[in-house]
Amino acid sequence: MASFFLIVSLLFALFFSPLVESQNPIDSCWRTNPNWESNRPALAGCAVGFGKYAAGGKDGSIYVVTSSEDDPESPSPGTLRHAVIQTEPLWITFEHDMGIVLKNELIMNSNKTIDGRGAKVEIANGPCITIQHVSHVIIHGISIHHCKPGKSGSDGDAISVFNSSNVWIDHCYFSQSEDGLIDVVLGSTAVTISNSYFTQHDKVMLLGHNDNIVVDENMKVTIAFNHFGPGLIERIPRVRRGFAHVANNRYNKWLKYALGGSADPTIFSEGNYFLAPDDPSKKQVTKRLESGNDRSWKWISSKDVFLNGAYFEPSSNGKVTQVYEGEEEFSVYDGSLVPNLTSSAGPLSCYSGRIC
Ligand SMILES: *[C@@H]1O[C@H](CO)[C@@H](O)[C@H](O)[C@H]1NC(C)=O
Ligand SMILES: *[C@@H]1O[C@H](CO)[C@@H](O)[C@H](O)[C@H]1NC(C)=O
Ligand SMILES: *[C@@H]1O[C@H](CO)[C@@H](O)[C@H](O)[C@H]1NC(C)=O
Repeated sequence: MASFFLIVSLLFALFFSPLVESQNPIDSCWRTNPNWESNRPALAGCAVGFGKYAAGGKDGSIYVVTSSEDDPESPSPGTLRHAVIQTEPLWITFEHDMGIVLKNELIMNSNKTIDGRGAKVEIANGPCITIQHVSHVIIHGISIHHCKPGKSGSDGDAISVFNSSNVWIDHCYFSQSEDGLIDVVLGSTAVTISNSYFTQHDKVMLLGHNDNIVVDENMKVTIAFNHFGPGLIERIPRVRRGFAHVANNRYNKWLKYALGGSADPTIFSEGNYFLAPDDPSKKQVTKRLESGNDRSWKWISSKDVFLNGAYFEPSSNGKVTQVYEGEEEFSVYDGSLVPNLTSSAGPLSCYSGRIC
């Protein structure tokens, strides 16, 4: 009898061993379910932080993308563009692996989820994604890279979030685009960017368009459990005016700086793993991109770990007493656990009937 239980528990351990990061609160919400495919919208309840309430297309039907074609003038049914421009909520999935070269930026409508689980989906070598004047968008499990400017004036960002709210980006891959990888600007708020892998890029993430956009005072963004891999130069992120909670991210040798800002931003850096580059002049995590005093700024570090000489220059004043007001709150671990918590950052390999 005892050996029976031993065998059962060994099998159990083997079966669940791919899920090493069971402490990651987003992943542990859904990744243990081998039947994830029959209940895809369950993902929508799993975000943490300011983007927690992003509904995506959870109240709509499933839309299966069957073709990688793109015709911006008259989008055909079965294409990603046709899916994202519909007005009703939709949970968008992919029939098979596909590389999508967009002919113009993909302008999404409200209440949409792009769910790449179960397929390898890349949006690359053309304009990429724009989320403007909308709410409730989830983007999960796709790769976005080598983005180029669009004909209608997009800059070549991988994802540009513009005057939008309740947006959650999770388990994506980002690299090598012409402008930023992710911009959150012009009155956007309630955004979480999590579990994603970033590499080989200059200006990684811009939160706040310019110092004079006062509406960005209300911007609240959570950046958690991401892996900022090799070859990133700066803006990881660069923050203006609003509030950025940067928690449990892994930083691997930025080339200029990691956290930057101007115009009185609040940056709460909590439980991150900062591995500095070898260049002795680049050890500082933080960079103030505005001269003068920083007395009304709040740049705070708590539970961060600093390696290879990394150091954080806090602001001269400021305490963060409470970050979240309700269920968007989550446990932030000590920075030393971050390599473990972020070990599956980026798109996951998910197969029907198996845990991801
Ligand atoms: C979008 O989702 C939100 C949150 O669930 C909901 O309140 C809103 O009615 C939805 N919009 C549409 C067009 O269904
Ligand atoms: C922001 O988006 C809303 C729709 O959600 C729209 O009514 C408003 O005009 C937009 N504001 C700006 C400044 O574009
Ligand atoms: C992560 O932590 C869990 C629980 O502490 C541990 O079982 C697992 O081996 C760790 N995984 C890695 C990749 O270090």
